[in-house]
Amino acid sequence: MVTAMMLTMSMTSVAFTAQEPLSEVPRTRLERLSTGANICRWFRWAADRPEEHFAEYISDEEMRVMRAIGLRHVRLCIHPEMIYNPERPTEPIAPMMAHIDRAIERFHRADLAVVLDLHNENQERLENDPVWREGFVQFWGALAKHYSTVNPEMLILEIINEPVFTGREGEWHALQERIVEVIRKHAPRHTIVVTGAGWGGIDGLERLPPLKDRNLVYSFHFYEPFPFTHQGATWSSPEVRVIRDIPYPSSPEAVAHLLSAIPDEGARAMVAFYGQQRWDRARMSARLNEAIEWGRRHRVPLYCGEFGVFPLVAPPESRAAWFTDFGSLLRESGVGWAIWGWDEGFGFGRRVVDGRVEFDTHVARSLGLREAP
Ligand code: BGC
Repeated sequence: MVTAMMLTMSMTSVAFTAQEPLSEVPRTRLERLSTGANICRWFRWAADRPEEHFAEYISDEEMRVMRAIGLRHVRLCIHPEMIYNPERPTEPIAPMMAHIDRAIERFHRADLAVVLDLHNENQERLENDPVWREGFVQFWGALAKHYSTVNPEMLILEIINEPVFTGREGEWHALQERIVEVIRKHAPRHTIVVTGAGWGGIDGLERLPPLKDRNLVYSFHFYEPFPFTHQGATWSSPEVRVIRDIPYPSSPEAVAHLLSAIPDEGARAMVAFYGQQRWDRARMSARLNEAIEWGRRHRVPLYCGEFGVFPLVAPPESRAAWFTDFGSLLRESGVGWAIWGWDEGFGFGRRVVDGRVEFDTHVARSLGLREAP
């Protein structure tokens, strides 16, 4: 009896030790990350923007609306070249930094935390240009120093958007580890968002060995099922570019009538397979659970930093159904998120009409946000 009790006690204590969280990210920050939206077009595509764009792209009133519908943070996407010059890696480019600092300050005043996301879209230079890559490590040191005095409850640093590194994932893992160390040296209290390779998706996350640092949030992006969320996306794979009217949920019957109209063989096979896979809420839940299980196993917090459906040729009722399903799954999961995006048709598709902010209210509803401020 005593032996059995002692055994139970010692097992409990072993179990307890094993369950100790490996994360020290304050709960308050995870709460801030619970609901958010990407700001996609403020600090991307620099060349063709007039100066006023950088100062005024989002007004104080619009920020107020974002907060009032229930958003708690923004993921501010920044093309690295706007502030990073590989020839002077430790000197972030001052005029644009001033605009970014001002944008961050204004979001903070509107009670929106900011995830500062270096939104690299040129995989080539990150993967194959050693000068760019080494400079980028140093650059992060300078950036971390610059932001070290900003309240860490309100500013979270994301190393890079969607690294790919096909067949060389170990290189990404090592590089990411180095950048975390450099940031940590200069910004000891700030939470950092890290991610796996493979476009920052769930498969890459599952192959990522958790890092030593405990003040990290692990990101994944969710654009599944891809033929549905990216139908008609001109910048994506040749197969998805040419397909349209793809329904969700999927079944062989639901896609049968589309197949004969798809001339490209690869695209046709992809859509047929999408039908066979019978994507629905249950399948989406199983996929999301892979990420959640990984997070549980490693006892680290997760962040779904992008998700959405390209609206151009997707049937509107299918797009709405996808958001209903994924929105409810996200809410049940408790994983923090940022939709792609506030100012992108994939997500809220916000428009400012006569000074009034309009956005997709079904998307807001499905994410548990208010439809009006
Ligand atoms: C890319 C965008 C793209 C979106 C959905 C983002 O990470 O940077 O260009 O529209 O993913 O594919």
